[in-house]
Amino acid sequence: MLTWRNPKCNGNLPPGSMGFPIIGETFEFMKPHDALQFPSFVKKKTIRHGPVFRTSLFGGKVIISMDNELNMEMAKTNRTIGVPKSITRLFGNNNLFVQSIDSHKHVRSLTFQLLGPQGLRLRLIEDIDLLTRTHMKEGAMKGFLDVKETSSKILIECLAKKVMGDMEPETAKELAVCWRKFPSGWFRFPFKLPGIGVYNMMTARKRMMNLLKEVVLKKRASGEEFGEFFKIIFGEKEGGKEKMSVEDAIDYIYTFFLIANETTPRILAATVKLISEKPTVMRELQREHARILGDRADKDAGLTWEDYKSMTFTHMVINESLRITTTVPVVLRKPDHDIQVGDYTIPAGWTFMGYPNVHFNPEKYEDPLVFNPWRWKGKDLSALVTKNYIPFGAGPRLCVGAYFAKLLMAVFIHNLCRYRWSMKAETTVTRSYMLMFPFGCDVQFSEDTEGDKTGG
Ligand code: HEM
Repeated sequence: MLTWRNPKCNGNLPPGSMGFPIIGETFEFMKPHDALQFPSFVKKKTIRHGPVFRTSLFGGKVIISMDNELNMEMAKTNRTIGVPKSITRLFGNNNLFVQSIDSHKHVRSLTFQLLGPQGLRLRLIEDIDLLTRTHMKEGAMKGFLDVKETSSKILIECLAKKVMGDMEPETAKELAVCWRKFPSGWFRFPFKLPGIGVYNMMTARKRMMNLLKEVVLKKRASGEEFGEFFKIIFGEKEGGKEKMSVEDAIDYIYTFFLIANETTPRILAATVKLISEKPTVMRELQREHARILGDRADKDAGLTWEDYKSMTFTHMVINESLRITTTVPVVLRKPDHDIQVGDYTIPAGWTFMGYPNVHFNPEKYEDPLVFNPWRWKGKDLSALVTKNYIPFGAGPRLCVGAYFAKLLMAVFIHNLCRYRWSMKAETTVTRSYMLMFPFGCDVQFSEDTEGDKTGG
């Protein structure tokens, strides 16, 4: 107990406390809180200990930092991702993202071929738009849709097609069922015991990996076409041999889907909620998208890359929403050597979690708690990271899905604005590490919706 409370360190640990053995302070850390504020646990500790403190979460030793300079420094100079072991296990121990620096660099560059701006323009925008339109139309016919569920379907359908190519309907259906087994907030208690969410998740993971493997092997044997991503991966050869094994590729794809699905739909739902509460923002968006649709000769034509680039106000809304909803750590690292910070040492092997405190600094953002897209007017809207803006992290681990996430959000907002809509009044957004919607996140469509006039 004593060594748990006072861990060894070749220097001075930052102040703080370690809580109970193994559980540490996880329960306090995970207590649901207002989504637009940092967790009260972090706020309380910062007042007591200052901007850098130690704790224990999910069975691992953790340093939490609210210091922007330190976060940037850690982001840029450390390459190893810092997630406690109990959580990385859920992704698969063999995951390329937790393996060597070389394989990590390689996988990033492959992923970027699909999800970088060039890949999105050539390979993805059309599919995302078509899927969004179809799902939106279905929702409008019913009179409502759940933003998180719908965008999650769009994301999975779009990525699955790009990654795997065409699949037999039975396999596609079974994969979708496996996804649904992923309990919301799955890593709140990341220990594998029968009857709890994580156990179901691990079982679903195993089944999914097997299904993916079957599809890959069948396709290879029959010479059938793979999706773009597999083509990119398997197109890469070294001395006549593929660089990535099937197992590695599947492990990676699984993680990639999981991260994509756990982030973007929730942030999009929170964004729609923020928009719905600000009539001025809603009106400006309706104007921008009516203009894009109005300029189009063929009203049924899909969205083009030029249309996307011209959505200046929508980009301002997305940037602002990402700023204000990012109340989670964005820099997750595990240093491989002790790092000296002023009087303190961040020990090798501990998990470092950097919060984007700078997003709420009144010197950088006037009235930082106010959702105000106009503050982005005249700024470079395509920058994913600046010294005062880090929703996607920074450095060698900067989010590889950032461009894709922003595109998906913009296309969703574009298609939503074809209709007259509102969000159910009872919708609330909270956070327990993940964004949560205890009363759902439905939008309702008005009867006099604009959809018919604009071809939606
Ligand atoms: C709005 C949505 C998203 C947000 C806010 C977000 C945020 C982040 C953050 C903060 C990191 C850690 C960066 C660091 O430690 O420096 C990250 C990493 C990552 N993200 Fe995202 N992400 C989003 C969407 C996506 C999507 C859609 C995908 C996949 C299609 C994705 C794939 C990844 C991957 C694979 C990593 C690990 C990168 C690495 O270790 O090199 N993310 N993301």
